[in-house]
Amino acid sequence: MSITVKFSKKENGFPRVKFVFKEDLKRGRINGFDTGKIFKGSEFKGDLFQFFPLRISEERTYFLLMGGGERAKFNGDSAFKAGSFLTIKLKELGFRNVELMVDFLERDEKLVLEFFSGIFYGDYENDFFKSQKKENNLTVYIASSSHDKVFRKLIDVSRKIGVNVNLCREFVDLPANHINPITFVDRVKKLLKGSDVKVDLLRLKEIEKYNLNLIKAVSGGSFVEPRLLILEYKNSKDRPIAFIGKGVTFDSGGLNLKPTAHIEDMKTDMAGGAVVFSLIKLLSELKVKANVIGIIPLVENLPGNQATKPGDVFISHSGKSVEILNTDAEGRLILADGIGFSKRFNPSMIVSIATLTGSAVVALGTLRCAIFSKNEDVIDIFKRVGDEIGEKLWPLPMDDEYGEELKSDIADIKNIGSSRFGGAILGAKFLENFSEDTPFVHLDIAGVSDLKSKKPYAPKGGTGFGVRLLYNFMREYK
Ligand code: BES
Ligand code: ZN
Ligand code: ZN
Repeated sequence: MSITVKFSKKENGFPRVKFVFKEDLKRGRINGFDTGKIFKGSEFKGDLFQFFPLRISEERTYFLLMGGGERAKFNGDSAFKAGSFLTIKLKELGFRNVELMVDFLERDEKLVLEFFSGIFYGDYENDFFKSQKKENNLTVYIASSSHDKVFRKLIDVSRKIGVNVNLCREFVDLPANHINPITFVDRVKKLLKGSDVKVDLLRLKEIEKYNLNLIKAVSGGSFVEPRLLILEYKNSKDRPIAFIGKGVTFDSGGLNLKPTAHIEDMKTDMAGGAVVFSLIKLLSELKVKANVIGIIPLVENLPGNQATKPGDVFISHSGKSVEILNTDAEGRLILADGIGFSKRFNPSMIVSIATLTGSAVVALGTLRCAIFSKNEDVIDIFKRVGDEIGEKLWPLPMDDEYGEELKSDIADIKNIGSSRFGGAILGAKFLENFSEDTPFVHLDIAGVSDLKSKKPYAPKGGTGFGVRLLYNFMREYK
């Protein structure tokens, strides 16, 4: 599908989408209609994700009323979700043209941006392998006095946000036989062609040359070679921020093979890498003043005859020796080498983003992701922007005592703790070792990168969680 947004000066007769807040219902009238009469016998209360096509005459449904919840609580998060819900609903009902009354946005730039980002986000369809695809294009006419440049610009930015978040979702949703380390890179190169993002690639030979031995160790069991993808976007004189994204295109667990109940979801284990790619593409399209490096180690974690064996020891890129006691704790291994490699760019901060542990999902469920950092100010910025746009997170602790469990008897560090307890924290502590003295932030997105069942504002599958969060973080962080 594709969505076109047009501005219309005069009424064009298309069905009009109008937001109704709970307060509007209390007041008793909307656009001259008596709400008591209109909603008589219906469930419609003006709640978010409620939809009410109001028939004005036999031949056409003229008003499409959409709940906005309580006006005072309507924020960027609700605006984004309402926008996505609207697109999904209009597709479902087969509307091709609608006129959108946007006065409720009250020219609040953040709300406009989130609402329209949501509209474009709702465009996503995981129908890559369906022989019958939905072909309903949607044109949204904006009936508002706000035909000015600012409004047009905001919609253009929203489109770029929506499109790039949806690219991330596509990477997450595509099966592992369609995205492996090699084809991930092919896609990225194609999508970044002509952009001002510099793409560098390390193949197996270079991975060996640079002693990225942990990346090689994880990919040992796969027929497909590992890759290290390096993306550079420089539009400021600041030292760069390095984003390291986990790119395990399939995580079988390796010789510590996963059981049936978990293995089938593991095509999503490259979500962190997909976020880093989409983020950098977005930053470059919006010409954001920033200097960023994206490092995406790409591997398939399989139990082949060259697979790493539990108990093996490898020397990481940074020189620290690592005892691999569980081949299913592979994300932290490739990220450790990614973090180590990022140091050559002299970053002012290292941010890792990864579907790292089931333990983060046990701790926080699927609403908020876990954030780890010793820098409280950075956590505060993340928390604030996350709440505003609806990609929420919650901090977990980083006390050094936690890290003691990672001491190995025979190497510098081991890749799992001695118990199941605090697993997400141990993952973060493991990574922190490789950032050394560079300020470090880690986001564990295992619980939020895909939805197990659909929501009113999104289908089952990849969410793109992290792209909007990191984009907004980059705008706020100075
Ligand atoms: N990719 C998984 C984590 C994961 C779990 C992602 C659920 C998405 C949903 C990761 O590589 C893993 O297997 N982690 C282990 C670590 C353990 C062996 C220390 C885990 O969380 O069980
Ligand atoms: Zn694993
Ligand atoms: Zn994994």
